Amino acid sequence: MPSQNPVIIESLDQEGRGIAHAEGKVIFIEGAITGERVTYSSYRKKPSFEMAQVDQIFRQSFMRVQPKCAHFGVCGGCSIQHLDARAQVSAKQRVLEDNLAHIGKVKPENILPSIYGEAWGYRQRARLSVRYVIKKNKTLVGFHEKRRSYVADMQYCEILTPKIARLLPLLAQMCESLTIRDALLQIEVAVGEHVDVLVLRIMRPLMPVDETVLKQFADQHAVQFWLQTKGPETAAPFYPLDAPALSYSLPEFGITMPFAPTEFTQVNADMNRIMVGRAMRLLDPQAGERIADFFCGLGNFTLPIARRGAYTLGIEGSDALVKRALQNAQYNALSKDTASQKARGYAEFRVMNLFEISEVLLTQLGRFDKWLVDPPRDGASELMKSITPDTAPKRIVYVSCNPATLARDAAILVHLKGYLLKAAGVMNMFPHTSHVESIAVFEIH
Ligand SMILES: C[S@@+](CC[C@H](N)C(=O)[O-])C[C@H]1O[C@@H](n2cnc3c(N)ncnc32)[C@H](O)[C@@H]1O
Repeated sequence: MPSQNPVIIESLDQEGRGIAHAEGKVIFIEGAITGERVTYSSYRKKPSFEMAQVDQIFRQSFMRVQPKCAHFGVCGGCSIQHLDARAQVSAKQRVLEDNLAHIGKVKPENILPSIYGEAWGYRQRARLSVRYVIKKNKTLVGFHEKRRSYVADMQYCEILTPKIARLLPLLAQMCESLTIRDALLQIEVAVGEHVDVLVLRIMRPLMPVDETVLKQFADQHAVQFWLQTKGPETAAPFYPLDAPALSYSLPEFGITMPFAPTEFTQVNADMNRIMVGRAMRLLDPQAGERIADFFCGLGNFTLPIARRGAYTLGIEGSDALVKRALQNAQYNALSKDTASQKARGYAEFRVMNLFEISEVLLTQLGRFDKWLVDPPRDGASELMKSITPDTAPKRIVYVSCNPATLARDAAILVHLKGYLLKAAGVMNMFPHTSHVESIAVFEIH
């Protein structure tokens, strides 16, 4: 039942929901924007708060825009398409500053200008669900519906690259025609510079007739299919076998990064290039320096740092990514055995669980002039706590996909380890979602 009395939206929360107060409770309202006067329908009621969906809008914000996507509101992929793209960036900047202030009790000396790229068609990585719905005798391929486990019935997606977006209904038809349609769980999308890869996660082997269907689809739409039967290590190319390898490039640093479709890469390649450029300007690697890149993945930051002439140690928890990173260092003539003497910089890598790092283990890695840190959502608190006067780098550039854990780790660095928070800012890696990617720079006092 919709609320009787309209409320005024005071601000936006981390997920882009409007926050209002009514009858002593906080109401989080999806689809409502700061300044708007709205009624709402609650879908979850608790003693101190309610979760709700906007119902009627009596006073509309100037920041409201018509969502571009026909599936907005149903599909769980985007949550803030109704908010003007520039207002999205400011909202994310505010989330970052609020987290730093409230969780970390820290304030950056400087706010970095926000960086952003194309607002549409940016997503080069995605995990699409496939569901054969017996009742409808129909196969769906797409993201999950908002707050539900159903797969959204999608004809197009405005944030996927246009080619993949156009393929969605055709993929659904193709999957439906397979004899193993009920054993097909998901399609992992990886768009590279020279090939578009679709990894089919299958529970049963393909029949010969299925193989023919896939091959025809691949030829007609210029994609490469991979098949994955169990864990990511079982993913292997199926057709065509002579397709170019997946890769992305960082032209500013003369680097090309081959990768496998199941390996971690940033979802937005254009923004990634801008982000790496900004991280390098903030880190300012110098020839002869020793620099550590924690949570280095396939070497996205490690290789650009080494290219600037620094010795760089990339540290990462995934064995497969460390192997890939070393191959990429060799491919770009940046490994110990391939780098030229003149260049001075080269990269080495080590597998390590950084959630279990200690002062002793950190000391064993040696002292570094600077650190680049790019952890998963859980952040890097153990790493920050392990810093001692002997291992403390003079500068840390921290790339974060979760402002709450960045703020918690900033508190450790500033209040316990003697660092200053010199600057912080957001990078709009995921337009139309509430996801906040940010960067912060710390320097020792
Ligand atoms: C946000 S990604 C960044 C990767 C890389 N810097 C890039 O830009 O592509 C975080 C990385 O942390 C790694 N990781 C996750 N948990 C870890 C752990 N406990 N110890 C070390 N690395 C971990 C993941 O494998 C992933 O490569």
